[in-house]
Amino acid sequence: MRRLRSGLGSLALVAGALAPAGPGFGQEVPELTEAGLARGEMFYQAHCGRCHGMLGQGGEGPSLTRPTLSRAPDHASMVQVIRRGIPGTGMPGTRANLVPDLDVDLLAAYALSLGEGTAVEIAGDAARGSELFATAGDCYSCHVVDGRGTGIGPELTGIGVQRGVEYLYASLSTPASELPVSRRGILQGFRGYLPVRAVTHDGRVITGMRVNEDDFTIQLRSILGRTVSLRKEDLARLDKQFDHSLMPAAADMTEADIDDLVAYLAGLGEGS
Ligand code: HEC
Ligand code: HEC
Repeated sequence: MRRLRSGLGSLALVAGALAPAGPGFGQEVPELTEAGLARGEMFYQAHCGRCHGMLGQGGEGPSLTRPTLSRAPDHASMVQVIRRGIPGTGMPGTRANLVPDLDVDLLAAYALSLGEGTAVEIAGDAARGSELFATAGDCYSCHVVDGRGTGIGPELTGIGVQRGVEYLYASLSTPASELPVSRRGILQGFRGYLPVRAVTHDGRVITGMRVNEDDFTIQLRSILGRTVSLRKEDLARLDKQFDHSLMPAAADMTEADIDDLVAYLAGLGEGS
């Protein structure tokens, strides 16, 4: 509710700032009522939420809960991005048979409102965060940033653009709560990072991240980055740990450490 209100406030400002350009979508921000914004939200959830998160928190697509979106800084450019997509990327266009012209304005206004009030002062020290990332945090052992590190976890090179600050805090303190959609997983037809624990008939235990699976075999990537293929008939147990994360909770980190790590992560990908 608070977000809706603040969204409405600044949308009224935008509307006031635009000279009426006559009829035509994308040129004029419609008179926005709470009902209009709710309608925009409905279209957002139907067409955008699966990639950008139902709350705009990010997923396969970047978070939209950022104060400034480089590709869609204002209403007109948001409408363009929605209609045309971003060619050469995973951002598809949306045709008028799915979102009619009259509604694309409401959708754009709603999508822009997600970034309202998200400008946050980041308390931490990014330089110290970068240091911690490499040392005490041992984060490079599971994450790649700018080509450094190994990758059982998601690459973090652009994480500051993909995710909002709240999400970063959440993934450091309670990682399993925020399972991301893995780009690699999507390519292979699987969504998400799924830790798996397999036990063979002769009692061997193998744990790793599922990279592929069919009716007869499953491939796991171990924490050391090695990929093993197992035949299901050789397994006594195959536990898929949907609520479990291989990402360690930062239990031995202080609040200041987490602030610094978040400050570092939030800056990754900005300006690129
Ligand atoms: C199939 C997944 C997918 C869907 C559906 C999708 N997007 Fe995207 N979107 C992406 C990806 C991936 C990017 C990043 C493109 C790039 O590499 O720059 C993106 C980028 C964007 C951007 C630019 C963000 C920036 O930082 O400048 C905006 C705005 C956006 N999407 C809005 C929307 C809206 C609104 C909808 C619903 C009509 C939508 N998207 C539907 C995947 C998707
Ligand atoms: C043992 C491997 C491992 C280590 C060490 C590790 N991570 Fe992760 N991390 C993961 C995995 C796997 C995921 C995917 C999500 C999940 O399973 O929770 C992840 C997810 C994340 C995410 C969310 C990414 C997204 O796109 O949603 C962030 C941010 C992150 N880790 C930061 C860190 C930081 C900072 C450190 C060091 C303090 C660290 N990780 C150490 C394995 C690890």
